[in-house]
This record gives sequence, C-alpha cells and structure tokens, in this order.
Amino acid sequence: MIRTTALSPSLGVEVTGIDDWLDEAVIAQCLEALKWRGVLLVRGADLDDETQLAFSRRIGEVVNVNGSEIFTVSLDPAKNAAAEYLKGTFQWHIDGTTDPVPIKATTLTARHVAMAGGGTEFASTYAAYDHLTREERRRYEGLRVVHSFGASQRLTRPHAGEKEKAFWDTLPKQEVSLVWERADGRRSLVIGSTADHIVGMDPDESRALLDELLDYCTQERFRYTHDWRVGDLVMWDNTGMLHRALPYDASSEREMHRTTIFGDEAFT
Ligand code: OGA
Ligand code: MN
Repeated sequence: MIRTTALSPSLGVEVTGIDDWLDEAVIAQCLEALKWRGVLLVRGADLDDETQLAFSRRIGEVVNVNGSEIFTVSLDPAKNAAAEYLKGTFQWHIDGTTDPVPIKATTLTARHVAMAGGGTEFASTYAAYDHLTREERRRYEGLRVVHSFGASQRLTRPHAGEKEKAFWDTLPKQEVSLVWERADGRRSLVIGSTADHIVGMDPDESRALLDELLDYCTQERFRYTHDWRVGDLVMWDNTGMLHRALPYDASSEREMHRTTIFGDEAFT
C-alpha cells in the first residue's frame, strides 16, 4: 500500500510502498501528489533508466533531447556537452519559460551524489501566490514579464565576453503574465532567473520588484530542500516549482539521470 508523508508545510510529499511503478492506481496517485504537493520523493527507488522512462511515459509524453530521452545532469563535460550551461541550474528557475508551453514535470534519479553541496531546492509559487495580500494581488494582476535565456546566463556568468553576451541576446525570449491562472483556476507566479524585465516598467523598479518577488517566493515557508542519497527519485511540477541546485564542484561525482515530460498548458 502507498503511504504519503509531507516533506514541508507548503510542498513536497514522500511516497513509500510503491511496488509496481506502472500500476494505474500508482500513476494516478503520483499525478495527484504532483498536482497538490508539487514535489514527489521516493527514497532509494533505485530505478534503472528503462523503468524511469516507462514511469515517465505514464505521466506524459517524454522529451527527446539530442536523440535521448534520458539526459545526464552532470557538470563533467565528458558526461554532458552542455555542462557549462548547467551552471545556470544554481539560480532559482523554472524550465522552459521561453517556450509557449513549459515542461510539465521532470524526474531525477540520483546515480552519484556530491561530497559537498549539490542538494536541490524547490519553492512553490502556488503557495507563494496564495499567501499574497489582496493589495499585492491587485498590484501584480496584469503585469507582463519578458523571460530570456540571456537574463539567466548574465546572472550565472557575469564575466562572459561581449561576443558571448551578444549571442545570448539572439536566443529566444518570451513575454508572459506574471500571474498564471490555470484552466483549473489555480494561480502561480512565473518568475526566476530568466525573468528579464517587467513590460513598461522603469528598469530599476522592474529589477527591484522581480528580485523582491523571488525573495518572497523562495522564503523558508514555501521551500523544501532535498538532500540526495543515491537511488532517490524526485519528480516535480516544473510549472509551479521554482528550483535550483545548491552549488557543487564541477569535478564532483554528482550525476543525475533526468527525464523531461512535455507540458499541456500554455503560459498566458
Ligand atoms: C533540472 C535542474 C537541478 C539539480 O534538471 O532542470 O534544474 O539539482 N536540476 O540538478
Ligand atoms: Mn531546472
């Protein structure tokens, strides 16, 4: 029988007792947990790639990244050609904010963990929205935010050369509503490292508000920090969970196997 235990007051649930990862009732419970708790943890699940992938396919359609549905998260360039860009995961972010429909969910299996650092932090922007005052809600209603890859790279690598910075500026950007109201009526905030500016606002004021909102959303009461053990499986609702990796050394052994699941709801 499946048992669930909250990981923190606002988000996260640990699930125990899963025998058959492809069982219909198990999948339904996982989807429900994902929806209401944002982050699902199974300690020591020890899934091989095949089972992780089969489970992910039951959650939704799996993204193929450069010919593979399993993506290795590692800062070792021998294991991941985009290792340099992965340092961007040290900043609070939501994946796919420059795509019209962001990724719905991500699963990670820990194959090797870092000796120091390398935890993953999550913050629920549903909980954050729910705790705004009426006045704040009114203030944020209707604000539009431009998200860009460049904004996140500038944070991650402020000393990059001019040429590289100019290249980032050619990459996709997208304007979305700060407050995202879903088809089911729930609301969340779309912010994070890719949030470049608020449309029509003075640049300094815009930066200050985006920073303030990020601090607000990532405060302890809306946050869960996961300390990885080998074999842990974590799945999260990417659309509502800001997340980041706590810094770890590029030479560390940390290695995660990831699946990415397509979304089905566009930003507004
Ligand atoms: C990701 C991500 C965080 C981590 O895979 O999208 O942000 O802790 N990973 O590796
Ligand atoms: Mn991410």
